[in-house]
Amino acid sequence: MGSVDQLTAPLGGVQLVNRFIDEPRPLRVAVVGGGLSGITAGVLLPAKVPNIQLTIFEKNDDLSGTWLTNRYPGVRCDIPSHAYQSTFEPNPKWSDAFSYGSEIRDYWQGVAKKHDVYKYVKLGQRVEGAEWDQTKGEWTLTVTSVKDTSTVSHTFDVLITAVGLFDNWALPDYPGLSDFKGHLRHAQNYDPSFEPEGKRVAVIGNGASGIQIVTNLQKRVARLDHYVRHRTWIASSFAASGNKDIEATKVQEGEPGDAGGDPFHHERKAGPQKYTEKQIATRASDPEAYLQFRKALEVKYWLRFGTVFKNATANDTLREQFTTTMIERVQKKPALLNDLIPDWSPNCRRLTPGPGYLEALAEDNVDYVRTPIKRFTEMGIETEDGIVREVDAIICATGADIKESATAPRFSITVKGSSKSLTDIWRGHGHPYTYLGTATPGFPNLFFVLGPHASGPSGTVPYSSETQIAHLARLLNKIATEGIRSMVPSAKAALEFEAWAVEFFKTTVYTESCRSWYNAGNPGGYISGLWPGSMAHLAFIRRAPRWEDYEYKYLGDNDETGESNRFAWYFGNGWTKKETDPEADLVSYLHIPGTVPLKDLHDKE
Ligand SMILES: Cc1cc2nc3c(=O)[nH]c(=O)nc-3n(C[C@H](O)[C@H](O)[C@H](O)COP(=O)(O)OP(=O)(O)OC[C@H]3O[C@@H](n4cnc5c(N)ncnc54)[C@H](O)[C@@H]3O)c2cc1C
Ligand SMILES: NC(=O)c1ccc[n+]([C@@H]2O[C@H](COP(=O)([O-])OP(=O)(O)OC[C@H]3O[C@@H](n4cnc5c(N)ncnc54)[C@H](OP(=O)(O)O)[C@@H]3O)[C@@H](O)[C@H]2O)c1
Repeated sequence: MGSVDQLTAPLGGVQLVNRFIDEPRPLRVAVVGGGLSGITAGVLLPAKVPNIQLTIFEKNDDLSGTWLTNRYPGVRCDIPSHAYQSTFEPNPKWSDAFSYGSEIRDYWQGVAKKHDVYKYVKLGQRVEGAEWDQTKGEWTLTVTSVKDTSTVSHTFDVLITAVGLFDNWALPDYPGLSDFKGHLRHAQNYDPSFEPEGKRVAVIGNGASGIQIVTNLQKRVARLDHYVRHRTWIASSFAASGNKDIEATKVQEGEPGDAGGDPFHHERKAGPQKYTEKQIATRASDPEAYLQFRKALEVKYWLRFGTVFKNATANDTLREQFTTTMIERVQKKPALLNDLIPDWSPNCRRLTPGPGYLEALAEDNVDYVRTPIKRFTEMGIETEDGIVREVDAIICATGADIKESATAPRFSITVKGSSKSLTDIWRGHGHPYTYLGTATPGFPNLFFVLGPHASGPSGTVPYSSETQIAHLARLLNKIATEGIRSMVPSAKAALEFEAWAVEFFKTTVYTESCRSWYNAGNPGGYISGLWPGSMAHLAFIRRAPRWEDYEYKYLGDNDETGESNRFAWYFGNGWTKKETDPEADLVSYLHIPGTVPLKDLHDKE
């Protein structure tokens, strides 16, 4: 509360700045990462933030992130193509109900080309470090050319990381790894020229990647050893709804939203699910019907929220459905079931539909190995029971580093004068320390896209990425317009957010005893991989930033004397630029009555 004594303080003494209030300063913004999030930032930020000077750094030789690097057999989305796409660039021409990686890669690169995103992009440039200088109000990025390892520095007002959660892959650290003489790859650097036909292959890991690889390799190899540490649920459908029956939302041929008939668009099958030319042509030629089709499909991914709660009937229903599905799928080798069904609830880990996976496990050329791996040998893998299984190739579908500090970007982020990096702080905290997954105390003008707490258990990843970027655009506009040198969330706001998240997650199955990237590999631990609430809940919050949760420094603030005036730069010379334009419509607020809804009156210019 201000005191009346303050009214006796001297008036005046402010250095007026000769600028118009409606002219935002050019904001230098760096985005690190050119996956679908970086591409979306490259489209939306220039559209929403006037005067932005954007640079997107990408270490790969092209855009698309996940969908550029993952080239293992069967790599494919498990969310339908027509829902796993940008909301503003819907593609009526997807060839498959669940597209393969190369089509998704081409789509995102196409979005980037159409919106001229490449002009902001520096390819083959790996960000190695970022340091914030509070006095200058600047981030200095150290960037290395992947090709010739030359290093340059660039300065920016704002740093946004869009580095994904799964890019940080590494081979497992079993003894003897380097002794193995055969073909050794991680799923994320799979060699498409490897010919598995007739070979003996080991696949380690039963996450979504391992499941897809086993399903696709089993038919081609002589023998497949599948090493699995923990059991996992195989979902009948990812689109399982919690609040409504799936069948009630299923679009039948000829109904509104059908857009050319699509009997299977809610459930992935093992092989291709190609759309017919007629279906594609209908969607492309009738935007309204295509919109209805998209809505009917995408809404299924908004109905799943009710299934994530402990003791919820909707979760019990999933358990029954998945158990039935799993029993059906291992009919050829029912004994396998004893080693498949987890003791934690469905949804504790991200669902994996995995059509064809259990059927593959039940085939005679597959050995499903639950005994822990002891070491790699020259010829194969030895398990703790002393058995050595010789193979020609080992594919480690062991995912990314998911421990608590690993969700921090894999480059050093520091503040000048402080010895601790963001990674150090997150490690010390025991999990990623953020304010709403968007920013973090102590690191001004640093924001994240699809980092911790970024997506709800419902909704879709592209929608979450877009709404987070739209939220960031609001912050950037405030910084650029109001002469803000830096904004940073307060520690109190971040800790209160976490305290709330902890209590919320206790009510969900995420805090059961599974190991996953949701809990940074710590069963029962803090859930940093998901938003504490539904996607609709998150989108609601993102629409209206809570300015009071941030601390601000202004251009012109004197850090040594503490002198500051929040209005000095912002209010400028007292004019709008518009008023100086003889052609401008200064009374644009006058309308024909009824043409502007009263709820919007005077909200925009
Ligand atoms: C095999 C696979 C399949 C998936 N399937 C689905 C699915 O079906 N549905 C779904 O919803 N999600 C799926 N996901 C999750 C998927 O990662 C996200 O949906 C989405 O692609 C994330 O996009 P992103 O841009 O945030 O991150 P990414 O796609 O990971 O992009 C991050 C980019 O940042 C770059 N980068 C990182 N560090 C640096 C640095 N220091 N300097 C410069 N550049 C850097 C990387 O090179 C990369 O290009 C899948 C993930 C994998 C691995
Ligand atoms: N569209 C799709 O179908 C699709 C495909 C791929 C990926 N994705 C997405 O990407 C995410 C990551 O998937 P992912 O499969 O790459 O990784 P993941 O889900 O983290 O799974 C990694 C697997 O490797 C195992 N593992 C890790 N280290 C191991 C070790 N040292 N020894 C033995 N096993 C080890 C893990 O076992 P534990 O369970 O014991 O830890 C787990 O089974 C998914 O959750 C999903 O969001 C989606």
